[in-house]
Amino acid sequence: MPQTRRRPPLSALPADVVALEDYARLVPEFLAPPVLAWLEGGSGDGQALRANREAFARHAILPRLLVDTTAGHTRRRLFGRELVHPVLCAPIGYQRLLHPEGECEAARGALDTPFLISSFASCRIADIAAAAAGPCWFQLYWQPERSQTLALLRAAEEAGCEAIVLTLDVPVKPASRAALRAGFALPEDVRAVNVEGFLPQAPVVVPPGESAILRGMMRYAPGPQDLAWLRAMTSLPLLAKGVLHPGDARRLVELGCDGLVVSNHGGRALESAPAALDRLPLIRDAVGPDLPLLLDGGIRSGGDVFKALALGADAVLLGRPLAHGLAVAGALGVAHVLRLLREDLELTLALAGCPRLADIDRACLVPAFPEPSACSP
Ligand code: FNR
Repeated sequence: MPQTRRRPPLSALPADVVALEDYARLVPEFLAPPVLAWLEGGSGDGQALRANREAFARHAILPRLLVDTTAGHTRRRLFGRELVHPVLCAPIGYQRLLHPEGECEAARGALDTPFLISSFASCRIADIAAAAAGPCWFQLYWQPERSQTLALLRAAEEAGCEAIVLTLDVPVKPASRAALRAGFALPEDVRAVNVEGFLPQAPVVVPPGESAILRGMMRYAPGPQDLAWLRAMTSLPLLAKGVLHPGDARRLVELGCDGLVVSNHGGRALESAPAALDRLPLIRDAVGPDLPLLLDGGIRSGGDVFKALALGADAVLLGRPLAHGLAVAGALGVAHVLRLLREDLELTLALAGCPRLADIDRACLVPAFPEPSACSP
């Protein structure tokens, strides 16, 4: 048994697993406590992590009656490809902490749902893409040298990845206090194999008394000119991940991004960041109706997918629930999580009287806790 696990993944699904939350309930039986703390934790004490779930709870979906949904479906076109549902697998690093075959096993289970390969994947990009049953995208972290960033980009292109998602919200990564307290450390045999050895050519020397974060670590954060360079280096669709401010959204589009991911990194970036869902309508209004917008953070049901679409997303990324599925039952668990989510979305569409995703709009939602005098039709 690897030191990251408490028991091996299941090879059959238990009968009492009927929703994503059941995988969340089971996962502590399968992972060692420090790995569980790494997976579940948010930055600091978890404020942004909690905000994501609270934001979904503030919206209710209005049921509609007498609607013919018999021509309905959950398909969505995104960057020229038709997806079976408006869901993609969020990039998660180091998945060999969760399953011995890591990202290869997860990508196998994703079936026709696009799989985002993290820059910090613990399997080789080409191996993950070969194992994947459906399309892969690549999540890019900016590297200390442009040549290293380019090497990652080319590896992703050669493996057939269909889009590049540049994550911008963690130029420095805050620690999760829960993971620190649990003593989480990467075991020697789980490594970010695609970026191994990618260090700055010359180490940064910070003058005594100056900030090692602001003047040291942040020296390798990408700037606007880097994004313009990256844009020129690839003809693949380029998305920026971690957008919460409408001004940033507009600027990223000006710099050539083809799409944006509205996200607070599942609560793992700025500790006091707002919920991604709460920022989504502002970002949609800032970029106009046509720019592909994805949302992640706190999606746990078909109703949550519906709410994200109602507030302006074209599709969502699913993070921790897939990690739970992978840890509990490998590819089978991943596939089951995605199927449960899709069926729940279909049920929501039927009861909300929206046969197609294009029928969903902001008027489908009402406040879950209205002011007594503010009940609108
Ligand atoms: C992440 N996330 C992430 N994002 C990214 O751009 N690159 C990465 O390598 C990782 N790694 C990672 C590891 C773990 C353990 C978690 C939980 C998350 C963030 C991820 O892509 C996504 O934004 C969130 O997970 C979405 O929130 P939910 O669905 O987990 O609530």
